[in-house]
Amino acid sequence: MNAAIDRYAVMGNPIAHSLSPEIHRLFAEQTGQRLVYEAILVEPGHFPEAVAAFRAAGGKGLNVTVPFKQEAFALAAERTPRAERAQAANTLYWNKANALCADNTDGVGLLRDLKKNLALDLGGRRLLLLGAGGAARGVLAPLLAEGPAELVIANRTPERATGLAADFADLGEVTGCGFDAVPAGHWDLVINATAAGLAGEVPPVDPAGIDRDTLCYDMMYGREPTAFVRWAAAQGAGRAVDGLGMLVEQAAEAFAIWRGVRPDTAPVIRRLRTPDAPAGDDR
Ligand code: ATR
Repeated sequence: MNAAIDRYAVMGNPIAHSLSPEIHRLFAEQTGQRLVYEAILVEPGHFPEAVAAFRAAGGKGLNVTVPFKQEAFALAAERTPRAERAQAANTLYWNKANALCADNTDGVGLLRDLKKNLALDLGGRRLLLLGAGGAARGVLAPLLAEGPAELVIANRTPERATGLAADFADLGEVTGCGFDAVPAGHWDLVINATAAGLAGEVPPVDPAGIDRDTLCYDMMYGREPTAFVRWAAAQGAGRAVDGLGMLVEQAAEAFAIWRGVRPDTAPVIRRLRTPDAPAGDDR
């Protein structure tokens, strides 16, 4: 009998507080899959050798988080269309020919959380996306696929927002601007995809378009309510939600790619929301 257990891991820096090992442990338990999943700290500049070493040790699949998602995409021999759009990968695996394959489940993870868990319908709605880095790029295509009336990308560096909007203009009504040039009017959904929260900051956006019918969503997650969630609630947002649901949903999609079995995310999200659950800060 072959007693070897399939190995999976998440690579990032920092990684110590990642919730991914706990999420995948709960998925494996729920679906009766036998696997181990660890968190691996990788030093900048050493990502390719870390992936090679993991494979040499029998690794089957990887999740990748900040700051290696673009590098993971570049390293892969094969890429899914959604990874191509994102120009970044959060999920790696090897195919039967031992070629490294890259996928990106962040976008579908966010959309599942918004639509399934939060029951938000995005069709014909006004969406404001804060940030124009890798995190924003990764979710633009699935957001536009929902057919919003308008999607505005606002960023500290306006040129990055207009450039990103131009890259996705073929998919829908999307424009970019600086935080001081955000169009007026009610927003149905405001997503924080900036890294401002890492410094405890909130993007300097005019809260006038945020009201009781607005859902404010922070792609970040932390043990305590994030700075953006606290700020949004103080501005009168009807709902202010952190990125835990997205984290669990993107993990479920990766798990399904690797194992061919889709876990039920609701009990895992509930479990992680309980006060004794471990802390996490990945996204
Ligand atoms: P990520 O992969 O997390 O998106 P990134 O590609 O480095 O990382 O992008 C970081 C994003 O957070 C950018 O939109 C950045 O704005 P700039 O393009 O102007 O750099 C934004 N950001 C980082 N710190 C911020 C802060 N303190 N306030 C507002 N935006 C911030």
